[in-house]
Amino acid sequence: MKITVVGAGNVGATCADVLAYKEVANEIVLLDIKEGFAEGKALDIWQKAPIDLYDSRTVGVTGDYSRTAGSDIVVITSGLPRKPGMSRDDLIGINAGIVRTVTQNVIQYSPNAIIIVVSNPLDVMTYCAHITSRFPRTRVMGMAGILDTARYRAFLAEALNCSPKDIQAMLLGGHGDTMVPLPRYTTVSGIPVTELLDKDKLDSIVNRTINGGGELVKLMGTSAWYAPGSAAAQMAEAIARDQKRIFPVCIELQGEYGIKDCYLGVPVVLGKNGIEKIIELKLNDEEKALLEVSRGRVKEVMDVLDNMPASA
Ligand code: NAI
Ligand code: 2OP
Repeated sequence: MKITVVGAGNVGATCADVLAYKEVANEIVLLDIKEGFAEGKALDIWQKAPIDLYDSRTVGVTGDYSRTAGSDIVVITSGLPRKPGMSRDDLIGINAGIVRTVTQNVIQYSPNAIIIVVSNPLDVMTYCAHITSRFPRTRVMGMAGILDTARYRAFLAEALNCSPKDIQAMLLGGHGDTMVPLPRYTTVSGIPVTELLDKDKLDSIVNRTINGGGELVKLMGTSAWYAPGSAAAQMAEAIARDQKRIFPVCIELQGEYGIKDCYLGVPVVLGKNGIEKIIELKLNDEEKALLEVSRGRVKEVMDVLDNMPASA
């Protein structure tokens, strides 16, 4: 199993580190355009192997895609992160150019890879990688839902004073302030969360989840990386180990949920073929309305991409 992570910054290096210590792949290639940066991070991860006892080999390269040849999975994290005052959508101008070029290079050397996009604005960068690669939609997906549900689950565990391990949750929609956490599909060891927390408390946790990325940007001056890096690695692991795990993942919808030609997070089964199944939940009217708002917002940003000059 060979996995390439493009972008050796905060998220990419964290993802490569998690992939290495969990031994998800025997070969992990970290690639960046900053001279020596990926080489340094990969060497550091490799030097941690005797301490944490793993034998996945991590190598770093500067811009040399020939070293990524034959990758089974490619995680794209290259691009600018948010700074205070910026929304994820503000990143589209620069990141679209980066994601397009990176995808072109990736597919040249790894035509059978499964691509996991992390760069923001997530749903539209997934669209960008999909139309650039022309891969089937089952092999181009975006990571956001695992991160957003992890934030939601962490806040719930804190409020209930219980282990985050016991909280299962699902979430739909775009990665932004129109995401749709689903309390109706949230359980604590099988107990519906609505039986354990009152509506006001649940609403405040849903609201904190929606603003979870911004909360960290305000605290750190840049966006998060530990949870995002681990979330991307968890998707790669589910594919590499053919685990058939069910996660919220961004994919092009082609009629599911009554939505066409839009990239949104929905529950899917992840296995060796990428997205092996899309699960359609029976939403109530309120949930459907929230998903429609999210669809409209993502579509607006997709239109921005469609109207950008190809050189951008
Ligand atoms: P960072 O600035 O630490 O790292 C980005 C790296 O990309 C840099 O090392 C840079 O040199 C590299 N890069 C830029 N252009 C490149 C190119 N053409 N080829 C190869 N490498 C290139 O940023 P960070 O914090 O790692 O975030 C990366 C991206 O992930 C951002 O767009 C951020 O908004 C996004 N993100 C998405 C999340 C999600 O849930 N989907 C969560 C957290 C971050
Ligand atoms: C996050 O949610 C900024 O998308 C990034 O942390």
